[in-house]
Amino acid sequence: MVNGHRAPAISALGLRKSFGEHVVLDGIDITVPEGTVYSLLGPNGAGKTTTVQILSTLIHADDGETRVGGHDVESERDAVRKAIGVTGQFSAVDELLTGRENLILMGDLQHLPRRESKRLAADLLARFDLVEAGDKPASTYSGGMTRRLDLAMTLVGDPRIIFLDEPTTGLDPRSRRVIWDLIRGLVDDYNVTVFLTTQYLEEADQLADRIAVLDHGRIVAEGTAAELKRLVPGGHIRLQFADRTALFAASAALGVAAQLVDDDDDDDDLTLAVPSDGSVKSLRALLDRLDYEQIEVEGLAVHTPNLDDVFLTLTGQPTSEKETVA
Ligand SMILES: Nc1ncnc2c1ncn2[C@@H]1O[C@H](COP(=O)(O)OP(=O)(O)O)[C@@H](O)[C@H]1O
Ligand SMILES: [Mg+2]
Repeated sequence: MVNGHRAPAISALGLRKSFGEHVVLDGIDITVPEGTVYSLLGPNGAGKTTTVQILSTLIHADDGETRVGGHDVESERDAVRKAIGVTGQFSAVDELLTGRENLILMGDLQHLPRRESKRLAADLLARFDLVEAGDKPASTYSGGMTRRLDLAMTLVGDPRIIFLDEPTTGLDPRSRRVIWDLIRGLVDDYNVTVFLTTQYLEEADQLADRIAVLDHGRIVAEGTAAELKRLVPGGHIRLQFADRTALFAASAALGVAAQLVDDDDDDDDLTLAVPSDGSVKSLRALLDRLDYEQIEVEGLAVHTPNLDDVFLTLTGQPTSEKETVA
């Protein structure tokens, strides 16, 4: 407990890692409060897996202070390992074994009594909708089923903190949604902390309490999805008016030029685009102003930039529209 607040589940300060000359993490800071979902968002090669591997004790950082589950990652590796579960970018499922056998094996690795492992395996198969497939070899599973089994295996040992490295990359949209629901369930029902990496803005948007954008070894932005969206220009409020008088009055009152499209048909485009961060506060100020001037608004739409706009603005490159081949 620090100042009455609980210590964060994960924290990193000045985290650095190079492979030879190649600087992969150039001093990143991360704080993840307990019971929240934190998403590290970045394109291929950004350093996501490297970060997960450091935080989960698989590789050593060159520099930085990292604590996970209240333990120092460098000096208390065993304690950190007891607190966490990791689903790697590439499946840990043994394809020659059945789903059930994979789960029991995980229990064995954690020295659980056999009876306990068997009970847990049955529970997890049920929870991840794998009861029917449970006694078939994992080699026969679909991509979605394999990921579900992978996630189930991560839960053996009841970790408080879970690392998910690109948990839905390569999955079809429906399987992706199933995984999202499962992850959300973990947070809601078990109060676990989730550290999730993804290339998908939508995934971060759907799941994460906070999102950090990783680019070339640095965190170039951090915040809630809404906060990130407000960082980029292009947001505006579109106002629709009944006639030109109202449009011009609003244009004068708000100091925004009306752009009348002078085409040949008679129905003028009676809309005004007012630059805005899309926040409720700015919307209220705008409407108050129009109210004060007694200008009637027919219709209104708020356009906030989406995370794709954010990503493009921050990193100069679009996110992966294509599926990556794993
Ligand atoms: N063991 C390693 N040796 C050398 N370079 C590595 C190693 N692991 C990762 N890299 C490099 O570090 C960069 C970041 O990799 P990674 O963390 O896997 O990115 P991401 O998971 O975001 O795609 C890449 O350029 C990758 O080639
Ligand atoms: Mg990776």
